[in-house]
Amino acid sequence: FFDIRQPVTGPEELEASVRYIEDGLMLMSGGHIVWLGEWREGEARLAGASKTAGLEIDDYRDKLIVPGFVDTHIHYPQTEMIGAYGEQLLEWLTRYTFPTEQQYHCADYAKRMSKFFISQLLLNGTTTALVFGTVHPQSVDALFKEASDINMRLVAGKVMMDKNAPDALLETPEQSEADTRALIARWHNRQRLSYALTPRFAPTSSPELLQKVRLLKQEFPDVYMHTHLSENVAELSWVKEMHPEHQHYLDVYHQHGLTGERCVFAHCLHLDDSEWDCLSETDSTIAFCPTSNLFLGSGLFNLQKTWQKKIRVGMGTDVGAGTTFNMLQTLLEAYKVGQLQRYRLSAFEAFYHATLGGARALHLDDKIGNFDAGKEADFVVLEPGVSALQKLRATNSKTLAEKLFVLMTLGDDRNVYCTYIDGELAYARDELSGESCA
Ligand code: GUN
Ligand code: FE
Repeated sequence: FFDIRQPVTGPEELEASVRYIEDGLMLMSGGHIVWLGEWREGEARLAGASKTAGLEIDDYRDKLIVPGFVDTHIHYPQTEMIGAYGEQLLEWLTRYTFPTEQQYHCADYAKRMSKFFISQLLLNGTTTALVFGTVHPQSVDALFKEASDINMRLVAGKVMMDKNAPDALLETPEQSEADTRALIARWHNRQRLSYALTPRFAPTSSPELLQKVRLLKQEFPDVYMHTHLSENVAELSWVKEMHPEHQHYLDVYHQHGLTGERCVFAHCLHLDDSEWDCLSETDSTIAFCPTSNLFLGSGLFNLQKTWQKKIRVGMGTDVGAGTTFNMLQTLLEAYKVGQLQRYRLSAFEAFYHATLGGARALHLDDKIGNFDAGKEADFVVLEPGVSALQKLRATNSKTLAEKLFVLMTLGDDRNVYCTYIDGELAYARDELSGESCA
């Protein structure tokens, strides 16, 4: 077992917070972690307990069990367009994204893609995600339904947008509010599901629409707000032109009351000092999406600054601008983004952002993110050496930090042996087709 015991305020604190149990035992009951410790100690406990007979034991020796990965920014209706060639953000939206998202007016299509999407999360070891739907309420109904079937912890919302997109994807602020309200009533706080108000970004939002978002946020304070911020320089100029009255991009959201706890901003690549300060002062969250930022040529995220400014940050794959569902691959790209700015992202820091840090970014660290007793039993069983190259490299790595770093350098979905959601096996790699979900 490997996890980080508690949230930290800087990467230098991580080493002391690492929990590593080479030969351990985890006891679970009713979807929650009851106990984690050394196998010897656990075995002695079990022997003493009369209820041992009813216990089911799964043996994962030689594997590495880590908390389920948390993806803090992903678009489920862009799964089918990963690898859309040749454009940067604004053209990419027009040429690929908007046509793709139009297909989600069909509830059957949304259902099929929801199943596929959730199975991709599980086979990559992601157990919680903050997800964009499309403008169509049926897209989010389909996704929540699939997540509820396995009692997954998921946060999602329908896109709200009323300008600068094809007519088929536009709505009025009134319709947007009514549809959003109905979805909140249907899904928010049902099982482990939460709702996120999801205005796409400033350029597709009128002031009237943002006003509706503000009112909903006031009415439902524990609902999330999830949007994009400062991703691409052409986007930045566009926002400046559109909103000369605002001090900067973030101010468009801030003046509409859309900063603060549970407000999650994807990207944040080109912020000025006052924007960093505003995110910090309002305790807003950033989703760092390295594969997307590199794929769309958007820019390099300044992770170091989030420590300096004490800003909550999680990892996002941002599929379909992001190029993988896999968190290990995402962490490697985060490391490279660091290298280009002379920032050294350690394996401990990388895994922290992907687990407990991500949970904290979503204000869920009291429920998920590590193996503390009482937390929800969402975790991944990783198999560190599946390829000849991984095996070779593993024999040459000594410390835990080195082993984890090699795993994020060479790893991918093949290393996910199985995934548990709510204490139940939800995916096993070697079952039947190899991509099956229980
Ligand atoms: N900005 C507005 N919409 C999107 C989107 O769908 N993907 C990304 N990466 N950025 C956006
Ligand atoms: Fe995105």
